Amino acid sequence: MGILQVQNVNKSFGGLKALNNVNLDIAEGAVHAIIGPNGAGKSTLLNCFVGRLRPDTGTVKFNGRSLLGLTPHEINQVGVARVFQTPEIFSDLTLLENVMIPALAVRDGAFRINAWGRVDSQATVRDRAEALLADVGLADKRHAQAGNLSRGDKRRLELSMCLVQQPKLVLLDEPTAGMSRADTNNTIDLLARMSKEHGVTKIIIEHDMHVVFSLAERVTVFAQGHPIVEGTPDEIRGDPRVQEAYLGGTHA
Ligand SMILES: Nc1ncnc2c1ncn2[C@@H]1O[C@H](COP(=O)(O)OP(=O)(O)OP(=O)(O)O)[C@@H](O)[C@H]1O
Ligand SMILES: [Mg+2]
Repeated sequence: MGILQVQNVNKSFGGLKALNNVNLDIAEGAVHAIIGPNGAGKSTLLNCFVGRLRPDTGTVKFNGRSLLGLTPHEINQVGVARVFQTPEIFSDLTLLENVMIPALAVRDGAFRINAWGRVDSQATVRDRAEALLADVGLADKRHAQAGNLSRGDKRRLELSMCLVQQPKLVLLDEPTAGMSRADTNNTIDLLARMSKEHGVTKIIIEHDMHVVFSLAERVTVFAQGHPIVEGTPDEIRGDPRVQEAYLGGTHA
């Protein structure tokens, strides 16, 4: 039984069936990629995992516990963190402040509780934030304003904001979108290192096959709201159904 189990999930927007009977089982510690043409429902699925959207039917279980009906904050508290398609950072704050906020997380009057059931002190969080910024190569810029960063640096900042929460499952929606080849390769290295050192389970939505084949152990291919093929990168590479899905879609 995987760390995340999705069963019979359906989601429609008006007459559009964005998710059509989705079943998915994500193994603990795995790097699992979800690929597929534009509009296949990948982001919609991730939004169902983090409480931004509620499926019309079906179940989503994390460590055996249903995530449906929990608020995004509650889902975050049980150990699920996400990096969205569009970076969500606080432009006017410094990098260090940006990384400290999710760890301190005074939201809805609730403090973030660490793995030992205690509230971390600000000094502890600061140390962790500084270490993570160094880890992603942003130590020099920690007192700079986040809004002035390059796109690649913003992505790196977001990854630190995600990891500072010490999540068990990280959801990444196109983590290298809009990056230069050099930044993409740096991010691949960073994500690979993260898997080894932090041991977190990752679900990565990605259009860049170089990223997918460099990182993923399992790949699920979506088309029109439904997973059509799942396997190792080698198994899905060259699968005619996958090529057909892309040719039939709107992906450029
Ligand atoms: N909030 C919404 N309201 C109405 N329609 C939506 C909404 N969110 C997504 N959709 C539609 O649902 C379908 C799936 O969208 P989704 O964003 O999940 O695709 P995707 O696979 O992430 O695509 P991309 O690769 O372009 O990011 C699309 O047709 C999209 O237009
Ligand atoms: Mg998307």
